[in-house]
Amino acid sequence: MANSKHIVVFSGAGMSAESGISTFRDNGGLWDKYDVTEVATPEAWRKNPALVLQFYNERRKQVLEAQPNDGHKALVSLEKQFKVSVITQNVDDLHERAGSSNVIHLHGEIRKARSTYDPSLIYNLKSWELNLGDRCEQGSQLRPHIVWFGEMVPEMARAQDITYTADILITIGTSLNVYPAAGLINHVQRGTKIYVVDPNDVPVHGIPDLVHLKEKAGIALPRLVEQLLAAE
Ligand code: OAD
Repeated sequence: MANSKHIVVFSGAGMSAESGISTFRDNGGLWDKYDVTEVATPEAWRKNPALVLQFYNERRKQVLEAQPNDGHKALVSLEKQFKVSVITQNVDDLHERAGSSNVIHLHGEIRKARSTYDPSLIYNLKSWELNLGDRCEQGSQLRPHIVWFGEMVPEMARAQDITYTADILITIGTSLNVYPAAGLINHVQRGTKIYVVDPNDVPVHGIPDLVHLKEKAGIALPRLVEQLLAAE
């Protein structure tokens, strides 16, 4: 590592859009097709666990069929010269499969299941399916290892601490709608350079030292990464 500058990447669903994974709030996004309260809340799980499992089975199938895109791959090259921390709201594993070595998942991981009895019992899923009757070693039903609306975000404090040490923050493909995750952008120190990569407007007006690259991740990131590597 040529220098010790720290780049924090904060990604959302737009990061994986070019890999074929649906976003949530774009036109035709997942929350147009599904009622979030019916599939992504603890109440939904109590009311209709089969529907919740089916929703996440479909998501998992999509993730297993997807490949990292040029944006994911470009971010890996940053590690040649910088300390890089990726904090993602995404539940897919495309950052890891591209080769990023330091990834925190704020909203869980779709390829894992966890016990409804003991949340420390977390399992890698071998296929796309998780069904009623699939149990942990203590005999309780397994649920998707996902942070649902209304649940705590266990990794939030760690993510805030990491963001506070950023020299550069790159926010990619998030509508900055869902808190507490969306508040991360306010946890940088004064003077931190912020790049926002999103083809659409996002609520970042008035934040100093911010550059909005209004392009898709797969186009903007290879260029930005090249520029950052050349500048060091
Ligand atoms: P959203 O669907 O809210 O926002 C996706 C963002 O990606 C939008 O701002 C788009 O403009 C942008 N976008 C679309 N295509 C892009 C591309 N090719 N390159 C770059 N950007 C692109 O997704 P999130 O902000 O990630 O949580 O949503 C946050 C959370 O809300 C999710 O983690 C999920 C969801 O409900 C849970 O399920 C708990």
